[in-house]
Amino acid sequence: MTKTILRALAGETLEVPPIWMMRQAGRYLPEYKEVRAQAGDFLSLCYTPELAAEVTLQPIRRYGFDGAILFADILLVPQALGADLWFVTGEGPRLSTVTTEADFEKLGRGEMIHDTLSPVYETIRILRRELPAETTLIGFAGAPWTVATYMIGGRGTKDQGPAHALKAENRALFERLMERLTEATIDYLSAQVEAGAEVVKLFDSWAGSLQGEDFDRYTRDTARTIVGELKARHPGLPVIVFPRGAGERFAGFHAATGADCVALDDAVSPEWAAEHVQPSGCVQGNLANTHMVTGGDALVRETRRIVEDFSKGPHIFNLGHGITPDADPANVQVMIDAIRGS
Ligand code: CP3
Repeated sequence: MTKTILRALAGETLEVPPIWMMRQAGRYLPEYKEVRAQAGDFLSLCYTPELAAEVTLQPIRRYGFDGAILFADILLVPQALGADLWFVTGEGPRLSTVTTEADFEKLGRGEMIHDTLSPVYETIRILRRELPAETTLIGFAGAPWTVATYMIGGRGTKDQGPAHALKAENRALFERLMERLTEATIDYLSAQVEAGAEVVKLFDSWAGSLQGEDFDRYTRDTARTIVGELKARHPGLPVIVFPRGAGERFAGFHAATGADCVALDDAVSPEWAAEHVQPSGCVQGNLANTHMVTGGDALVRETRRIVEDFSKGPHIFNLGHGITPDADPANVQVMIDAIRGS
């Protein structure tokens, strides 16, 4: 096996960690903005396989990352279940809300998602033909809790308030929505693997707002169900989970979910995670994305510290969260040089 990301995911400690970045295809890159303008809007870009493949390839050409992440969005799944979805420039996503039984009844079953999502599978097939032989193709989906927060709130919400309210006021409905999303997520990721994704990552960006038993049920146990079913359908498939904001609960997350890799945000220190998380399996992370804006010595120092702290076990270098549109593309190269030592 020559692909470094697959080696790290299999538990190998590499001399130089493989590298990719969350949101590596995005608005900080001028070449992305060009294709985005050509596509018209963000969703057209997601659903046009040739263009989605092109923007996935851009950061690979520019930087030679070890991994390419499929260009799509976690909110395509609610759309494929029948929710209305649109993006307001400068503000973010808007969706028709699911807060009543009647709203829920309008959603389709998990297996109908492929009608809408088939262009995403085509993007994956193009990428498998066009990516360099050493680059690992990573598919992804949002975790049910995170996706549910957008469906219930109809947009990104402060503290995920509407989702917490529905969970408190009508837990049966909330759980039906979680089950529907779990089923759809499994079918979506499974289809991505059949199309050629070599690894899949589950983004639970709002895991940190769940406390106690709610975290255990809706983030941890839901991840275990998804990972378990994917591995039953695709033996040997490596899975990365990202329970952002999990804090001390990152420890034990490999064992509790069966995931091969736990992605860390920047709120935990690499020293702590090397001691409490990495002994259980591969870790990914966790440079603060603000360094991509500010650069300088601090960027180099922090990058080297992360590499050093995780050097005794399997590690994939990444940011703690997605790179932002105001990042300087030159800082990405500075980070890569600090890791690869050139
Ligand atoms: O990482 C990658 O490069 C792959 C593609 C990817 C996108 N979104 C493209 C995108 C991935 C993996 C995502 C995940 C995603 N999408 C998450 C989870 C990860 C995280 O960042 O916490 C969430 C919560 C979303 C939902 C979403 N999509 C929001 C809130 C927004 C608007 C905010 C923003 O950055 O504009 C999006 C839009 C979006 N998704 C963009 C991109 C490149 C920007 C759209 C544009 O070009 O205008």
